[in-house]
Amino acid sequence: MKLIILVTLAIALFCSLSNALLIPRLALSDQEVINLLITNETSSSNPGEIISPSNREIWYVGQHVNVTFSQEKPNETVSIFFFNQTGTLAGGPLTRTTFDFVVPPDAVSRPNESSLLIAVKRKNRYLQAVDAVIIKVLPAK
Ligand SMILES: *[C@@H]1O[C@H](CO)[C@@H](O)[C@H](O)[C@H]1NC(C)=O
Ligand SMILES: *[C@@H]1O[C@H](CO)[C@@H](O)[C@H](O)[C@H]1NC(C)=O
Ligand SMILES: *[C@@H]1O[C@H](CO)[C@@H](O)[C@H](O)[C@H]1NC(C)=O
Ligand SMILES: *[C@@H]1O[C@H](CO)[C@@H](O)[C@H](O)[C@H]1NC(C)=O
Ligand SMILES: *[C@@H]1O[C@H](CO)[C@@H](O)[C@H](O)[C@H]1NC(C)=O
Repeated sequence: MKLIILVTLAIALFCSLSNALLIPRLALSDQEVINLLITNETSSSNPGEIISPSNREIWYVGQHVNVTFSQEKPNETVSIFFFNQTGTLAGGPLTRTTFDFVVPPDAVSRPNESSLLIAVKRKNRYLQAVDAVIIKVLPAK
């Protein structure tokens, strides 16, 4: 069974480097940053501060869903999307912990695969962290 998987260590390293060297990732969109970081050959997801949904949750196209973080971070912004499948679905300042959207058709998982929900967090536009949860997205019920 093929799963889309994350290089957690690479992301952690990348984020810490970004912080240490203060590399502004202004030139790269969130999607481009993530495409650089993720390959299809590796380890496990890294939910980080995402407390809901949990790994392996099943979502249906058209469903209203919430993504909930463990804490507010007023100085950070977040952008939420499915890796390699959708544009940004929800986001904005982390002055709240819950972000909602409707699951779009583009997010449907390929047969025997799952989709990877990504949350990119930035502070002053500098990359802070990338949280990721594996979701099985099925066509509308
Ligand atoms: C990803 O998988 C495809 C097919 O399974 C393979 O051809 C490709 O080399 C893989 N890419 C990486 C970066 O491992
Ligand atoms: C999403 O969260 C809001 C509260 O922040 C709640 O009112 C709503 O019912 C939740 N929706 C789902 C689908 O869980
Ligand atoms: C958030 O920003 C405010 C004002 O810019 C600053 O006073 C505060 O220390 C910042 N908080 C964190 C956690 O960086
Ligand atoms: C991204 O999506 C395209 C088209 O759906 C697919 O061919 C490609 O393998 C995907 N890349 C990764 C890394 O999953
Ligand atoms: C999905 O998995 C089942 C059982 O593991 C297998 O029989 C089927 O051929 C797989 N389908 C695809 C499209 O890989």
